[in-house]
Amino acid sequence: MTILVTGATGNVGRHVVEELLKAGHKVRALSRYPASAKLPAAVEVVGGDLSNPNTLVPALEGVSGLHLITTGTGYVPLTTGKEIIAAAEAAGVQRVSVLWDGKKGTVEHAVESSNLEWTQLQPVEYMSNVLSWRESIRTEGVVRDLYGDSISALIHEGDIGRVAAAALTEDGHAGKIYTLTGPEALSVQDKVRILSDLIGRDIQFIRLTEEQERKRMAELGVGEDIMDYVINWHMNPPVEAYTVNPTVEIVTGRPARTFAEWAQEHVKLFKV
Ligand SMILES: NC(=O)c1ccc[n+]([C@@H]2O[C@H](COP(=O)([O-])OP(=O)(O)OC[C@H]3O[C@@H](n4cnc5c(N)ncnc54)[C@H](OP(=O)(O)O)[C@@H]3O)[C@@H](O)[C@H]2O)c1
Repeated sequence: MTILVTGATGNVGRHVVEELLKAGHKVRALSRYPASAKLPAAVEVVGGDLSNPNTLVPALEGVSGLHLITTGTGYVPLTTGKEIIAAAEAAGVQRVSVLWDGKKGTVEHAVESSNLEWTQLQPVEYMSNVLSWRESIRTEGVVRDLYGDSISALIHEGDIGRVAAAALTEDGHAGKIYTLTGPEALSVQDKVRILSDLIGRDIQFIRLTEEQERKRMAELGVGEDIMDYVINWHMNPPVEAYTVNPTVEIVTGRPARTFAEWAQEHVKLFKV
């Protein structure tokens, strides 16, 4: 049977695909732009848009497991959760992993009222968020950010991929809501120091005002609502955001990866 991965071209989705392929499963990937998806040859890439659930019907044919993201264009929460889950049930899907966007939305509500075996994944901040510093580190040796001191138990996207693959293919995860963290809580300045040590170059941290941070996020295409959410989340972080928990290791049998490991894997991107 086939597993359909949505968000498959994204930071997390690529790892979900990789983990499922490694475990020998047949993977289909959904993309709004299938021609430019750049996924492994073994993956069947199909077109579709989660904001328009009718487009999912062919993609769901013969699918037993489904990995769902919960946002559409511009990270706006999907309003189509009910229709997506109805289409999945009609297609005979059995298991669903749902990757949240920071708060429960229509997808989570729909899946909880369905007969599907669902697992909700609630990761905290992704390590890949530091990719937004790539250009300024490479060209100026500088990181500009609003949140110098706020700490976060940030997680490697690959560990979310491992948990999603386990939830979709192994017993014992149905009805579970997993808060997922990395193995340590780090501040922005800690991350800057780790990157600096690794690339062998001093990186200066420049604290932004809130107005400057909003401008930076706007340039990355982030909408006003999401900006409010992210800024508030960092200024008044919920306790789960910086409290390390062992769920990744419990579910996957492997320790959660550190930011230093993530940085080592991506070091080339930060070097001139
Ligand atoms: N960054 C964080 O710290 C963080 C923390 C917790 C949760 N999250 C959530 O995690 C999710 C995934 O993040 P990511 O970093 O892996 O994503 P990403 O790299 O930014 O990629 C976005 C993905 O969403 C897909 N997509 C967007 N709109 C779509 C639509 N209307 N229909 C179908 N697919 C659509 C894109 O597919 P195509 O372009 O191929 O169509 C792409 O695969 C997001 O919902 C985000 O809110 C992020």
